Amino acid sequence: MSVRIQTPGIVEAEDELEVTLRPRRLRDFVGQAALKDQLEVAIAAAAGRGEALDHLLLAGPPGLGKTSLAQIVAAELDVPFVQTAGPALERKGDVAAFLTALEPRSVFFVDEIHRLPRALEETFYPAMEDRQLPITVGQGAGARVVTLDLPPFTLVGATTRAGLLTTPLRDRFGIQARLEPYAPEELATIVHRSAAILGIEIEPDGARAIAGRSRGTPRVANRLLRRVRDFAQVRGAGVVTAAAADEALAMLEIDDAGLDRLDRDILSAICEKFGGGPVGLSTLAVAVGEEPDTIEDVYEPYLLQRGLLQRTPRGRVATPAAYRHLRLEPPDQALF
Ligand SMILES: Nc1ncnc2c1ncn2[C@@H]1O[C@H](COP(=O)(O)OP(=O)(O)O)[C@@H](O)[C@H]1O
Ligand SMILES: [Mg+2]
Repeated sequence: MSVRIQTPGIVEAEDELEVTLRPRRLRDFVGQAALKDQLEVAIAAAAGRGEALDHLLLAGPPGLGKTSLAQIVAAELDVPFVQTAGPALERKGDVAAFLTALEPRSVFFVDEIHRLPRALEETFYPAMEDRQLPITVGQGAGARVVTLDLPPFTLVGATTRAGLLTTPLRDRFGIQARLEPYAPEELATIVHRSAAILGIEIEPDGARAIAGRSRGTPRVANRLLRRVRDFAQVRGAGVVTAAAADEALAMLEIDDAGLDRLDRDILSAICEKFGGGPVGLSTLAVAVGEEPDTIEDVYEPYLLQRGLLQRTPRGRVATPAAYRHLRLEPPDQALF
């Protein structure tokens, strides 16, 4: 059995525990200190003036806290939170329905904003900039454009692929932030916090063992905590110790670098089937039987961060560290 990391879906099916564990306020949100500071100031300033907060773009891999932060921003501003996702917006009318119904200063959250249809992006420009929404009424010769005034609102866009956003759209976000993978100590803090909420008894070494194998991602840390808890309950004394964590993670085929089965499949395909690379993303995806988008959004960021993989213009390349990790002989005519 391998732990599969949830593929980013259209509007994420929120599992109940994820909702329970979600930090509600800025002070509960662990890490990302610079971003939190920046938001705290911007939120206090906007609230002080009674204005809507500037539009905010949150970029970063899945599970780092984008949705949580969007909800936190609304909670801190004490304004309504309205949520949709790029692929759920198909027609201009869909956007108009959301925007015209917003209460003043609301947070309008568009998840996966890079998947917004291109034709709709232009609807957002005047809405974001001037709070205006030009719409066409009537048909044929009688058609005319009327411009609706919108209430002040804050668009919070989340994306796993900031690079796919067009420049005009990106430029209309007054605050642009990139969430970075979390340090092991931060993840350990998150694991302790989640354990306390779920009533799980955990030792500091147990939290550290989970944190070190969570690929820098709070969502993964929380998921592993639950698996380790099951293991500790059934095979141990119910306490999450380092030993319980080690055994449970070994059973889940998560290695000491935090790589799961598919991570290792990706690396070993590059090393063994493609001579270390470079190999194109789509070829690699076929070789491991996974969607190219999932590999790029979910798996690669961590492999890149660990220095196991490189992206080159000609494709993906395995590094010497990848060979060492897989206990393989690196090729002689190495590129390195
Ligand atoms: N900074 C954080 N502090 C505490 N928990 C976090 C943090 N970031 C994420 N989490 C946890 O991880 C889960 C996934 O976060 P989420 O906001 O849904 O990520 P994203 O929208 O980026 O995929 C949340 O339910 C929450 O429990
Ligand atoms: Mg999300």
